[in-house]
Amino acid sequence: MNTPIVELNNVSKTYSTAAGEFPALKNVNLSVNAGEFLGVVGKSGAGKSTLLNMINGVDELSSGEVLVNTGGQRVSVHHLTEDDKALWRGKTMGVVYQSFQLLPMLTLIENITLPMDLAGNFKPRESRQRALELLRLVEIEEHADKLPAFVSGGQQQRVAIARALANDPDILVADEPTGSLDSVTADHIFDVFSRLVAERGKTIIMVTHDMGLKSRFTRCLTLVDGDLQPEAQADAKPKRSRKK
Ligand SMILES: Nc1ncnc2c1ncn2[C@@H]1O[C@H](COP(=O)(O)OP(=O)(O)OP(=O)(O)O)[C@@H](O)[C@H]1O
Ligand SMILES: [Mg+2]
Repeated sequence: MNTPIVELNNVSKTYSTAAGEFPALKNVNLSVNAGEFLGVVGKSGAGKSTLLNMINGVDELSSGEVLVNTGGQRVSVHHLTEDDKALWRGKTMGVVYQSFQLLPMLTLIENITLPMDLAGNFKPRESRQRALELLRLVEIEEHADKLPAFVSGGQQQRVAIARALANDPDILVADEPTGSLDSVTADHIFDVFSRLVAERGKTIIMVTHDMGLKSRFTRCLTLVDGDLQPEAQADAKPKRSRKK
């Protein structure tokens, strides 16, 4: 059997707050295969952003393990040093944050060339060309030289998606990437994601509160109060016993 590309073993995350310990994720187990477009839906506060921050190693877990298997290398994310983790993430995983997190003093195109220049996979002229192509993909290239503050939230979101794709990562994790987009743009982004999965073999893990999006994923799981719900088996419906 193939090794999953992303594997969570008994992952828990507890936040310490003034009011005491708050368990935001409880013993989450998850296996994601390469080429899946996995959706995780849950209400506000269910732990969706926390889950993504455990997968990409942006935040520390309280217990458990996250394994990511790309390029023939299986990495235990939370055992990497901070420097190694940042390098690893830059090459392996594109991240679309819920709050975009564009750098305000850089133009839109510079926000995309920066991670490429940091990773050093592309020459400077190539990185500008590639950034323009990515901006075209999310249909915002005419604003390439503007600062983030001069475009709308939805447009910033599209730039954040383009930036996540900058280093052509195997895995994309996206936190409500269509939450601030109008339905036409959101549809377009879904098409882009679906094509990345179907044609380029990417793996996408996306979290959203919008239950209406369930059918757009190749698999969809539900998170309730930090608990990842077991998958409903298609054949688990009780068969009606017929009395003779
Ligand atoms: N840094 C933190 N310190 C303390 N509690 C936190 C912290 N971050 C999140 N929480 C709490 O953990 C729970 C899960 O938060 P999380 O942000 O993961 O939810 P979410 O599903 O992403 O919600 P939303 O849909 O509103 O973005 C919430 O109750 C939240 O208040
Ligand atoms: Mg969130």
